[in-house]
Amino acid sequence: MLSGKTILVGVTGGIAAYKAAEIVSRLKKLHAEVHVVMTDGAVRFITPLALRTLAATSVHTDTFAEPKMWNVEHIALAQRPDLILVAPATANTLAKMAAGIADNLLTSVLLATDKPVFAAPAMNHVMYHHPATQANIAVLKERRVRFIGPVSGFQACGSEGDGRMSEPAEIVAQVREYFQPPSALNGKKVIVTAGGTQESIDPVRFITNRSSGRMGYAVAEAMRESGAEVCLISAPTHLQAPSGVELTPVVSAQEMYQAVLSRYDRADVLVKVAAVADYRPAQSADQKIKKTGDQLTIELIPNPDILAELGKRKRGQILVGFAAETERLIEHAMEKIRRKNLDMLVANDVTKPGAGFESLTNIVSFLYPDGQRKDLVQMSKIEIARILVREIAELIEKK
Ligand code: PMT
Repeated sequence: MLSGKTILVGVTGGIAAYKAAEIVSRLKKLHAEVHVVMTDGAVRFITPLALRTLAATSVHTDTFAEPKMWNVEHIALAQRPDLILVAPATANTLAKMAAGIADNLLTSVLLATDKPVFAAPAMNHVMYHHPATQANIAVLKERRVRFIGPVSGFQACGSEGDGRMSEPAEIVAQVREYFQPPSALNGKKVIVTAGGTQESIDPVRFITNRSSGRMGYAVAEAMRESGAEVCLISAPTHLQAPSGVELTPVVSAQEMYQAVLSRYDRADVLVKVAAVADYRPAQSADQKIKKTGDQLTIELIPNPDILAELGKRKRGQILVGFAAETERLIEHAMEKIRRKNLDMLVANDVTKPGAGFESLTNIVSFLYPDGQRKDLVQMSKIEIARILVREIAELIEKK
């Protein structure tokens, strides 16, 4: 399924290097042409011979070796592949990539390439959460390096936590998806809502919430990447709509209700990321309310619960909600799945640093009506969106 694609696998020096053998083998089984570049650290954990035997095409370790296949080896290795995958990516190599250091063949290749780069970090959880590593990852994400994992779990050092490399099957699945988006969503009509609704008090004031729209726009982008026809119904944000996505701007919860309901019957999937105001002022004043010095009371009345209404009218659509919670995350979120008749719910504790409103990253759990649950580590919103899109594709396949 990857025939015609050339993939360069960069292997760096961590215990997870042994898993590079399975990654290379899986890529070969999908008919990719695989080349490998190993750092000095990597060859201490796994031999070039093992990878050469599995990768077949070539394994490179030395910047100064005489080029056997192409002229100026690191430039050729940087330009020839369709994609570069660094797995495992140690904290050290990520730091070099972020700083533009080219002191070995792999980092030279990474500096000389304009091809898509994927990185699967693997390190001890304290190293992963160190501010230096997090800052390096943030820089690399800005430069469009795509991160796969890491995940949480048992670590070789004996502790448990974030920083374990994703499993080879997962890494290869993400590489394959880059070239072949999941077909289950291809051509499907998907509605995504985003942003925080604004509920008017008077012509100059409104009630709203902290939603920036980032999470919803990321979901719209990931859906588009997977081949879906995406309608993004967005409350006001400062973001540009992802290319190829149809944008329907709305302001209030009632406008969002109308926009969503009018498209719902034709939709295959609906992902409701928007933070909808539960209440609105009973009346919006025609003129600016003047300051009098007296206390002012604004009466609020409930807005329609859009998602609950969609749950009632569901006719085969996949309905996915988000839940922003500040306490008892799973308990409250599970109650919403049932009450709103959802196929899946993405729960985030918006009090956690690096999660929820406004931040570039999020920390979420995927919940299902049968009580199943998947916890993701802190990741950029676009990474979470891509994983969510795969989950939704699986739900479509199962239907
Ligand atoms: O926009 P960002 O800054 O990136 O922040 C992302 C986010 C925190 C907004 C996002 O991750 C998130 O949690 N979105 C859901 C916010 C929310 O309104 O949660 P809720 O628990 O109040 O609502 C549950 C679900 O019901 C949501 O899918 C919501 O869209 C929907 N709802 C809620 C109220 C209402 N009147 N109508 C609805 O449809």
